[in-house]
Amino acid sequence: MLQCTATIDAEFRIGPIDRRLFGSFVEHLGRCVYGGIYEPASPYANSDGFRTDVLDLTRELGTTLIRYPGGNFVSGYRWEDGVGPVAGRPTRLDLAWRTVESNEFGLHEFMAWAKLAGIAPMMAVNLGTRGIQEACDLLEYANHPGGSALSDLRAKNGSPDPFGIKLWCLGNEMDGPWQVGHKNADAYGALAAQTAKAMRQIDPTIELVACGSSNPRMPTFGAWEATVLDHTFEHVDYISLHAYYQQQGDDVSSFLASGYAMDQFIGAVAATADHVAAKKKSLKRLRLSFDEWNVWYEHRHVSHTQLELSKAPRLQEDEFTGLDAVVVGNLMMSLLRHTDRIGVACLAQLVNVIAPIRAEPDRSAWRQTIFHPLALTARYARGDVLDTRTKGPLLHTAEYGDVPAVDVVATIEDESSELTVLAVNRHLGESAELIVTLRDVPGLRVVEHLALGGALDLALTNTAERPNTVMARPADGAAIVEGTLHARLQPASWNLIRLR
Ligand code: AHR
Repeated sequence: MLQCTATIDAEFRIGPIDRRLFGSFVEHLGRCVYGGIYEPASPYANSDGFRTDVLDLTRELGTTLIRYPGGNFVSGYRWEDGVGPVAGRPTRLDLAWRTVESNEFGLHEFMAWAKLAGIAPMMAVNLGTRGIQEACDLLEYANHPGGSALSDLRAKNGSPDPFGIKLWCLGNEMDGPWQVGHKNADAYGALAAQTAKAMRQIDPTIELVACGSSNPRMPTFGAWEATVLDHTFEHVDYISLHAYYQQQGDDVSSFLASGYAMDQFIGAVAATADHVAAKKKSLKRLRLSFDEWNVWYEHRHVSHTQLELSKAPRLQEDEFTGLDAVVVGNLMMSLLRHTDRIGVACLAQLVNVIAPIRAEPDRSAWRQTIFHPLALTARYARGDVLDTRTKGPLLHTAEYGDVPAVDVVATIEDESSELTVLAVNRHLGESAELIVTLRDVPGLRVVEHLALGGALDLALTNTAERPNTVMARPADGAAIVEGTLHARLQPASWNLIRLR
């Protein structure tokens, strides 16, 4: 059995948990919008065509924020196509996903859905095929109170009150050659800076996100961030990070260490932003927006480039295993650990496409395996993240070298006197004994220990027929002995231990 010790001191805090870390993403991609959140013909739809079963699960997931409308989709999108009477909206070709877009669902529908879901919107503007003017037009339409052509048009289209959208992405993955309107770092940085300046003239209260790299394996990673921030540093609030993880071949150990890889990625982007700050003699500590993250087996799916053009085809509908859920739970822990630097995070995506929620036309939506660690973390990781120190064995991985076998993150909520310990045992074959010294938090007792993973669950999935195969279940034996927490972590498991 592995032995891992951790020390938690209620005085040592990384910072308050930004609830925007529990964001997600809705893109006009596959069946995320049509057949996901919106399906008027479904027996589960309300009078606006929104699927109420998906809405219920979105709330249960604890989602606080949704990025919309893309993704790669946004780089060819004309936002005006999605406003005004539905009957008059044009059908367009979406080049990003080779899809026919009916524009039945647009800005007003999204804002109405967001209100029902209780989430804040995060809007992306098209800096692929479009530029400063169209970004300003959209912002004026959405946020200007009235008395201008576009804000009056919004009122005429049914929303006299401004939408008040605070968070705006300046394009999407502009470093990627696949992106419609792909640019080099200088061209994108210059455009993003000018767009940011102009948008702030319309609404100085907005927060802006510049595009970082599409993933840390991009050949331009690092240099892209440095150049883009040379142009935009003074004009934006965030630089974005995107990363998707997957098991390569039979290398489960490296896959289980994805949380470690995420830690390294965040560190590298933060260091690059701080390097630009130093060059500019600036005290500003730019925040990070991890606005696309998940496990994704992109190459297992038929590529959209090989499909006939159609409306809302089935694209990227990953079925996740228990192992994927352990990894996703650990990735969420990495985001929490960086709550002092990351202000926004969006799991990509919400429903059907690489998603924790699955929906089919004729049956009630269900929770994929990855839903469970996400929902439980959103529910119980509250208050502040503690600066937890851990000691324990290292695990050798082919991709990342030696990584800690056990990863621990703890949170504390002062009002409820609740302390939550999140722990992942990354070892595939051995259980771990976790011993946590609890300083400055006397009188705690164990409320519950929930665990997901372990040998039995790793290969299993949740399906429409068997939606509850994999979920977090009570684990035995966690106890506090003389101010020290003792818990046993199954091999390859994600754990949540609640203390009060
Ligand atoms: O989330 C799916 C796609 O992944 C997004 O459209 C794009 O931004 C990323 O490459």
